[in-house]
Amino acid sequence: MKQEISFIPREQLKPKPDPASLGFGKYFSDYMFAMDYHSDLGWFDPRITPYEPLTLDPSAMVFHYGQAIFEGMKAYKTKDGSIQLFRPEKNMKRLNESCERLCIPQIDEDFLLEGIKELIMTEKDWVPSGEGTSLYIRPFIFSTEPYLGVRPAKQYKLLVILSPSGAYYGSQLSPVKIYVEEQFVRAVIGGVGHVKTAGNYAASLKAQEKADAGGYAQILWLDAKENKYVEEVGSMNIFFKINGEVVTPRLNGSILPGVTRDSVIQLLKHWNIPVREEKISIEEVFAAHKRGELEEVFGAGTAAVISPVGELTWKDQSIVINNNHIGQLSQDIYDEMTGIQLGKKEDPFNWTVKVASVEA
Ligand code: COI
Repeated sequence: MKQEISFIPREQLKPKPDPASLGFGKYFSDYMFAMDYHSDLGWFDPRITPYEPLTLDPSAMVFHYGQAIFEGMKAYKTKDGSIQLFRPEKNMKRLNESCERLCIPQIDEDFLLEGIKELIMTEKDWVPSGEGTSLYIRPFIFSTEPYLGVRPAKQYKLLVILSPSGAYYGSQLSPVKIYVEEQFVRAVIGGVGHVKTAGNYAASLKAQEKADAGGYAQILWLDAKENKYVEEVGSMNIFFKINGEVVTPRLNGSILPGVTRDSVIQLLKHWNIPVREEKISIEEVFAAHKRGELEEVFGAGTAAVISPVGELTWKDQSIVINNNHIGQLSQDIYDEMTGIQLGKKEDPFNWTVKVASVEA
């Protein structure tokens, strides 16, 4: 039986931020979606409730053993003023894959998506409409049971919070500098690198500190076994255009299967541009640059959208890609993807899902 989503009003609404200075992940809307889990009850009490601090037991298992997973998706205001999501069913599916790996009980994907749509309807005035802006949606689940033994928890909380956001890296589409990490690794095959769990990001911070100190925007991770094959950048998947063909690392169990990654691959196939998912070593990337064949490098992710890479540093070598300019293919993919997301372009893939039409 479908559960009713209750609504708990707040007394005062917050002022909306200036759309010109949104940045990423700094502002949060008035309400959130919440639901709890208890092993005796299943998932219960779905509600749209004021966004506010939580009270948790100091022994809540998430603080000790890290059962915490999340998703990232966006709602867009189209040119006619309606609101739409981009492939949200992929995020729901991946959330359940993360649940499975972290021993968190499965959620009803359709029900959660309905809850997210209802939340967005409640918060429709928080969906920004400025160039390069969207409403970032962050569903997440964590264990709340007060207990110190190591085993899967019997109690969890699921929340969905909303953050009106602009570009992830300072400004949209400006080429970023990336540092290839050699000392630390992000994930091992058989581990949790292929799911969206908080620990993956905690483990990346030490290397990110080094990158920050060197003036790099992000890390490019190599495989943990041989320190040789390219995996991903911490907040996006990576693509190389070499001699007219596009290559992206094949999903191997330690790389996150990005929704934007999958969309870029489908788009390239649709355009008849050769694209291969395969193991690619960092030596090959640098050798292609030496031969003059490395035409473009770009990252793809929900938060980052399409992010051209202007410079890559590995050991003591730095290479500049496409003279540190936005490549034509990166630009075309960005235009097509954001065009579809914003309802400015045809959506031949049926990727967009309407949340609210203009009259709503
Ligand atoms: C996203 O692109 O939605 C992500 O989750 C990456 C992030 C850690 C900001």
